[in-house]
Amino acid sequence: MKINTTTLAKDFIKENVKNGDIVIDATMGRGNDTLFLRQLVGDSGFVYAFDIQEEAIKATENRLIENNIYSNVSLILDGHQNIDNYIKEDNISCVVFNFGYLPRANHNIATKPDTSITAIQKSLQVLKVKGVVSLCVYQGGDTGFEEKEAILNFVKNLDYNKYTVIVSDFFNRPNYPPIHIKIIKEI
Ligand SMILES: C[S@@+](CC[C@H](N)C(=O)[O-])C[C@H]1O[C@@H](n2cnc3c(N)ncnc32)[C@H](O)[C@@H]1O
Repeated sequence: MKINTTTLAKDFIKENVKNGDIVIDATMGRGNDTLFLRQLVGDSGFVYAFDIQEEAIKATENRLIENNIYSNVSLILDGHQNIDNYIKEDNISCVVFNFGYLPRANHNIATKPDTSITAIQKSLQVLKVKGVVSLCVYQGGDTGFEEKEAILNFVKNLDYNKYTVIVSDFFNRPNYPPIHIKIIKEI
């Protein structure tokens, strides 16, 4: 398979998440990332997953059950902008964002620039040193460009002494493919 935003994100997550870690899936959707994270952290780790849609919670629950996973995951029906109401630790290894809308559902229920930025900001606060944030950011089509521009502007201005930010863009591919952003907390 050709490299794409999803493979980039998965490789980055795999490199940075190990057994026993506490991690966050900030956009649960149909649970692919929640499952992936839970498999990486194992029975001694923990995954917090957020979504604003009941349908996402149900789909993710089913996905986990199909894979015989019944523990060490909390599926939270709330916006990722409120993660600080649920997560009091500051030892999170990885926060995963896959922005946009729930596939095969209403495209109008999607992540929004303001709440996305708040959620990224709060994620950085709960990360441990050397913890990472993985961001898959869509553009064009139903998504438009506003969220991508807002996120790029936000990460561009993060203090380079504290955070390393790497942006991957499939520069010669047509139709505005999604971009991947890596954030590493350095100190
Ligand atoms: C592209 S999907 C995520 C795909 C998912 N990671 C997977 O593995 O299937 C984006 C999800 O973000 C959710 N979402 C939108 N606004 C949100 C918010 N403020 N907080 C948390 N989730 C949100 C949508 O409901 C949708 O399910």
